[in-house]
Amino acid sequence: MFALNIKRAPLKRLVASRPFSNASNKQTLQSKILPLPSSTFLLVTAIALGAYSLDARSAANEYLWCPLIRQLTTAEQGHNLGIQLLKCGLYPRLFSDVDDPVLKVEVFGKTLSNPIGMAAGFDKHGEVIDPLFNLGFGYVEIGSITPLPQPGNPTPRFFRLSQDEAVINRYGFNSVGHLAVLADLKYRFDTLHIKHPNATLNSFRDNKFLAINLGKNKTGDEVEDYLKGVQNFGPYADALVINVSSPNTPGLRDLQNESKLTNLLTKVVQERDNLDGKLIDPTSKPPILVKVAPDLTEPEIKSIAQSAKDSKIDGIILSNTTIQRPTENLITKSDVVQETGGLSGKPLKPIALKAFKTLRKYTKDSDIVLVGCGGISSGKDAIEFAKAGATFVELYTAFAYKGPGLARKIKDEITEELKKEGKTWMEIIGSDDK
Ligand SMILES: Cc1cc2nc3c(=O)[nH]c(=O)nc-3n(C[C@H](O)[C@H](O)[C@H](O)COP(=O)(O)O)c2cc1C
Repeated sequence: MFALNIKRAPLKRLVASRPFSNASNKQTLQSKILPLPSSTFLLVTAIALGAYSLDARSAANEYLWCPLIRQLTTAEQGHNLGIQLLKCGLYPRLFSDVDDPVLKVEVFGKTLSNPIGMAAGFDKHGEVIDPLFNLGFGYVEIGSITPLPQPGNPTPRFFRLSQDEAVINRYGFNSVGHLAVLADLKYRFDTLHIKHPNATLNSFRDNKFLAINLGKNKTGDEVEDYLKGVQNFGPYADALVINVSSPNTPGLRDLQNESKLTNLLTKVVQERDNLDGKLIDPTSKPPILVKVAPDLTEPEIKSIAQSAKDSKIDGIILSNTTIQRPTENLITKSDVVQETGGLSGKPLKPIALKAFKTLRKYTKDSDIVLVGCGGISSGKDAIEFAKAGATFVELYTAFAYKGPGLARKIKDEITEELKKEGKTWMEIIGSDDK
């Protein structure tokens, strides 16, 4: 009752100062209400901004919080902070995230509700699978994971080229190793399987895939390391990715050479075929994809296509980061451009897309699924890859610059464009050369 009285008193005064149509009364009222102490004003603004930012789609995430984090952290600290915030549940939400039917993708005998994936390298140790699905991705690829734990290269090993919305990294497969990731995946699987006993996907989401990207240890065996990955992670993956294209592990890219690649992929497929009894969907074994570099000549791309066909893998992801430095197209002019490592983000897109179109030329006579990756940051970019032959696409760097609402934003842009064209995603795949 007491509380009610104190609340009511100012209201009475407000009512007494009516009518508002009287200009002088209105001014008096405003001068009484508006000059709040600046600390109160700041607090109210911060609360309002905070509440607004709770929606992953809010522009504050792209234009305020992400730049602020960039100002206050190194690239690696920013990455770790992002993972920790997602892991603790301290991230903005999509309050509605229904994928329009035009975004549906039929692939590997299953359905994806949308064609936007998170590429490997963001969630290297599989710590934030569910938050990434919650942010609208249709496909989440964790890794690369190496059999034994290894620290990767010395720091600094991750650099921002902010003006170009690009980064250079030479992490060098820092990984907690198979056993640690497996323990977390098994825990997640057991927990979710109780809730969803009839699930047929390891994502435990309708029409979404969890992919696991396999790497090799710096001094590991170039075949055995991947076979161990297939044995250990096959039961937890909706797709397995063989990464032979990181520029930061000495000799790794040599595995893209035709005879080595055919040998490796043939053994990987055999190992996958031997997985039995422990699969979430006993009627289907995880598809095998190989992830390749964008820095390949046409004959090299042709031989990769041949290896993929000969070994009967299911798909190819193009591309990983580039060792090229397209300096004429870069706004950043500082020495950071010359850091050793792989460049990703916007400047990679034309390089990746060119290589992608060449790959399409040599695979379109087969049923090998192509996945587009490299510098994708908008619906327009995703559609460009789809028309060039991508069944679905993945991104990483743009997420770091644009923030948690990016997958949803891209899906909205694609939906709008497809509706304008009167087409579905499936209908535009490879339409450039049809
Ligand atoms: C910091 C960083 C770490 C990465 N680590 C991996 C990795 O471990 N395995 C992998 O296959 N790709 C890795 N990638 C490559 C990405 O998956 C992706 O192929 C590449 O960045 C191009 O896409 P984007 O331009 O959208 O970032 C990494 C990329 C970045 C930026």
